[in-house]
Amino acid sequence: MSERNYSVLDGFINRIDEHLGAFISQPQQTLRAYPAENVDHSMLSETERRQSEGFMRVNHAGEVSAQALYKAQALTARDDQVREAMERSAEEEIDHLVWCEERLHELGGRTSLLGPFWFFGSFTIGSLAGLVGDKWNLGFVVETENQVVKHLDEHLNEISTSDLRSRAVLEQMREDEAHHASVAHHAGAANLPESVKKMMRLLSKVMTKTAYWI
Ligand SMILES: [Fe+2]
Ligand SMILES: [Fe+2]
Repeated sequence: MSERNYSVLDGFINRIDEHLGAFISQPQQTLRAYPAENVDHSMLSETERRQSEGFMRVNHAGEVSAQALYKAQALTARDDQVREAMERSAEEEIDHLVWCEERLHELGGRTSLLGPFWFFGSFTIGSLAGLVGDKWNLGFVVETENQVVKHLDEHLNEISTSDLRSRAVLEQMREDEAHHASVAHHAGAANLPESVKKMMRLLSKVMTKTAYWI
């Protein structure tokens, strides 16, 4: 490997290290109140509680990935307007991250042990998408958000109807994610090739199946 390639790789790893360090050590500030704040706590059976815990761990892992994706996006976006259009979405992703963690704690659960792995993987994929160009970067955001909306719909279908607090969080997140997809779309996203979408669905399946348990 040439000296130049070493320095590009070094810079990239330093950036991941910087962001991951800041992400783990800093308490995250939310823009909005917790959606379940005024929702009654309901009695859940152990089966219902464990299912909700698994889903909220998956959603929390997804939000860790969203943090990495939007940070990579901000670093690689060439156009200032594109970067600004994404900033509000990125702030709302922090709300989601904190809400999922809060609900997990309420359910007596823990976050995924593979958090740094989800962060690193998404940061790498997001940076690669960004390096290809803004319209592809945005296309990647649109497809990611659309897939998240589908996951949230599945969770809302499967989660116990008694778990009103989890449902309140998931419903607000679903609304936000659909909006994020639309913001990225209107900022000039390209439609990704079907093969790339398929690969993204496969990766997200691996993540959701793993984070449910680990
Ligand atoms: Fe989110
Ligand atoms: Fe989002």
